[in-house]
Amino acid sequence: TKIAAFQKTLLNWYDHNKRDLPWRHGHDPYHVWISEIMLQQTQVQTVIPYYQRFMKKFPTVQALAVADESDLMKAWEGLGYYSRARNLQKAARQLVEDYDGQWPTTAKELQNLSGIGPYTAGAIASIAFNQPVPAVDGNAFRVFSRLLEIDADIAKPQSRRIFEKAIQPLMPKDRPGDFNQAIMDLGTSYMSATNYDSEHSPVKAFNQAYLDGVEDHYPVKTKK
Ligand code: ADE
Repeated sequence: TKIAAFQKTLLNWYDHNKRDLPWRHGHDPYHVWISEIMLQQTQVQTVIPYYQRFMKKFPTVQALAVADESDLMKAWEGLGYYSRARNLQKAARQLVEDYDGQWPTTAKELQNLSGIGPYTAGAIASIAFNQPVPAVDGNAFRVFSRLLEIDADIAKPQSRRIFEKAIQPLMPKDRPGDFNQAIMDLGTSYMSATNYDSEHSPVKAFNQAYLDGVEDHYPVKTKK
């Protein structure tokens, strides 16, 4: 089927071209979580050294839960948006106290944790727990609005659900985390504002907007 061909093409490209990033060396939910929170408002190259220092200083959920507030803020210095760090510690305490240190594994339950919204929950559930759920961030908006010609306005909060529903049937059961991360890499290397090259994209045959010559139209985004 077309879906199977798309999955195969995307994952094969990812296998040969994925960025080697420190949080991609395993599937530990703690590692996935910290990296995803850091990456929310900060670029990959900036995040890498912060992530590595953070893991040395706070190697586990338990260590983070009992960390000194000033040590934590110091580790975050330069990343900005300090509420992210405060929420990290809140969630670490929730995990230790309310969940007995056991991670919930579904995207729905993960959203009960402080600072974990639909995107981060999808990323953790798929990458760490192999759940076939989408992780819709700016990359996914850019990629799938074009591939599927989705006209929903990405500036509107309700559009996330529209994208999640459209992406859901495309998720491979065996490698959902790699699928989501492949979309992130694709969004960065072939479909970002500064790095835009659909002509050479590995999935151009599946890019309906490209095939129809209407790529300029996507993603649809009104000014807020
Ligand atoms: N941006 C957000 N999450 C990411 C990830 N897991 N890998 C690369 N870039 C990302």
